[in-house]
Amino acid sequence: MCGIFAYLNYLTPKSRKEILELLVNGLKRLEYRGYDSAGVAIDCPDRKDMSLIKKTGKVKLLEDEINLRSVELRVDDLSDNHCGIAHTRWATHGVPSEVNSHPQRSDDGHAFVVVHNGIVTNYKEVKTFLQKKGYYFESETDTEVIAKLIHHFYTLHPKYSFRELVEQVAQQLEGAFALCFKSKHYPGECVATRRGSPLLVGIKTKSQLATDHIPILYGKDDTNRQPKEPDSAHKEHRPHGRGDIPVLSRVESTSEFQPLEDKSVEYFFASDASAVIEHTNRVIYFEDDDVAAVKDGALSIHRLRRSMDDPHAREITIVKMELQQIMKGNYDCFMQKEIFEQQESVINTMRGRVNFENKTVTLGGIKEYIPEVKRCRRLMLIGCGTSYHSAIATRQLLEELTELPVMVELASDFLDRTTPVFRDDVCFFISQSGETADTLMALRYCKQRGALIVGITNTVGSSICRESHCGVHINAGPEIGVASTKAYTSQFISLVMFALVMSEDRLSQRQRRLDIIEGLRNLDEQIRQVLQLDKQVQELAKDLYQQKSLLIMGRGFNFATCLEGALKVKELTYMHSEGIMAGELKHGPLALVDHNMPVLMIVMRDPVYTKCMNALQQVTAREGRPILICETGDAETMAFASKCLEIPRTVDCLQGILTVIPMQLLSFHIAVLRGCNVDCPRNLAKSVTVE
Ligand code: F6R
Repeated sequence: MCGIFAYLNYLTPKSRKEILELLVNGLKRLEYRGYDSAGVAIDCPDRKDMSLIKKTGKVKLLEDEINLRSVELRVDDLSDNHCGIAHTRWATHGVPSEVNSHPQRSDDGHAFVVVHNGIVTNYKEVKTFLQKKGYYFESETDTEVIAKLIHHFYTLHPKYSFRELVEQVAQQLEGAFALCFKSKHYPGECVATRRGSPLLVGIKTKSQLATDHIPILYGKDDTNRQPKEPDSAHKEHRPHGRGDIPVLSRVESTSEFQPLEDKSVEYFFASDASAVIEHTNRVIYFEDDDVAAVKDGALSIHRLRRSMDDPHAREITIVKMELQQIMKGNYDCFMQKEIFEQQESVINTMRGRVNFENKTVTLGGIKEYIPEVKRCRRLMLIGCGTSYHSAIATRQLLEELTELPVMVELASDFLDRTTPVFRDDVCFFISQSGETADTLMALRYCKQRGALIVGITNTVGSSICRESHCGVHINAGPEIGVASTKAYTSQFISLVMFALVMSEDRLSQRQRRLDIIEGLRNLDEQIRQVLQLDKQVQELAKDLYQQKSLLIMGRGFNFATCLEGALKVKELTYMHSEGIMAGELKHGPLALVDHNMPVLMIVMRDPVYTKCMNALQQVTAREGRPILICETGDAETMAFASKCLEIPRTVDCLQGILTVIPMQLLSFHIAVLRGCNVDCPRNLAKSVTVE
């Protein structure tokens, strides 16, 4: 959660106004990660102090505040000032307020300021320690301890480099964090580090960079201004109320490479690539415990210790993302754009993988592992929210085509249960962002137990992507709207493709596979037809938007659509909605049904049609007036409906891709009619990097 953005250059002259604009624009791109408050810190023109500007609410309010205070902030000054850090917050510790906004500071004089994405789990112990040292805390955040702790280390070791101080701090923190620091003692410098939360740096040069990697320095740089302390660098170092926080020793650095030293380079630290893509497509994704420092135009990456398989350098990755992909275009909001993009995103998911002529499917990212997967004990599909629903949507097909037991798990619950996992399990981690903390924790849990880890993500370079043994990029393109739409249909297709790969040598399944491949071939055209229902769905939304509740029922291949539809309605419209397994109706939910309760039912001509019709009749018998999603031209079924949305027929296991789209449109239109912010639903954020 939360978005971090920082900008630095060494030589390029820029006014404070330009730097503030860069920071605010960076935050706007990251706003989907949290929009409770926003803030920036930038050097004062004389570099002896910093200006901190913070505002509760969305980034636009911060921008307005900056414009309002432009004279006081001397925004037109062209000075030695080249560096600023910025943050957009999703509140975890402490209510959304200015004092709880980031940057958090060490003191009134802004000796150190920090922006943070994540949660420091041992902040109470660190806080108690610092309070005993006389530090006064102004906010309710966990982040404030970080700003104060670095100040504490600075008072102990004023000659340490900025990077060394950050290393000291990072050693003491538990939990998840991506951090970016600035200090008035180190003007024009910026130090960033991460553990568990995403962080990258974008590198912009005027000319081609002479290198495609940045060396990693292990241990200490060669300043050696302090006498060596006893070697404690390798011992455990958690504060945990043990009285004092130990300062770790400095260790000699080893690297045969030089840091990147091109004084015309501009650097952009960010939580994800969408914030830097308008400036550069060259990025370095940091690994846990990397400490990146920019000083006098030079970027260096440090790690305290080196283990056997640590690389010499971090690679510069060329990000394949276009600016227009992260712009709204002609749409009112990102979610709407992303719903309509599904006609193309499903093709992108299949591109180069499904060969419609030869009727073959190849998944390059897991090809080598397929023999191992075929020998496994069971498949486990793990995710949260919408990603979890994509697992529910495809479980039945996976069971059918792989003939393996398939467990579908919510990542949080899976961890709560300390579920038994074995070396011969294959665990799929499904995540649009690739950063969801619960899913990532579950991944690490399974990896520790020796299972094969398969990532299904939409974000190249994300933690889940990097920590998986193999995987599938769903290639849906950037998804900015907080409510997931096109990622769901692409996750769905990725899992279907996996099922097809697993069954390619099964003669008994040949016809079934051919039907599914044919279904995939027609999918984009059928999605186009479903999207044409938009006006009809809008009319339906007008009937429903003042209701308190909406029940969505179905079973079999369409049960996942009920869960996903209800989730979309809840998160976007704040209306109560429940996805109900139609088979469970008479075991409780039927009690909710009466003349007034809005009920939407999905009834397709698939193997559970008759059972769905039973449920439909139970609803009408209780004076319910169900709205139906059914097959085009199915007059017999439509006779039971108060209203209908007709959907083209496809093969049963793909039908959920078509039935979910009206639900996405419906939630969107209800949200608009209720005056809700579609792209930024209250209390939510796109990338949930905290447990
Ligand atoms: C709902 C939604 C969330 C996410 C969930 C997992 O519209 O977007 O339920 O699906 O937070 O996120 P990822 O897929 O990024 O792991």
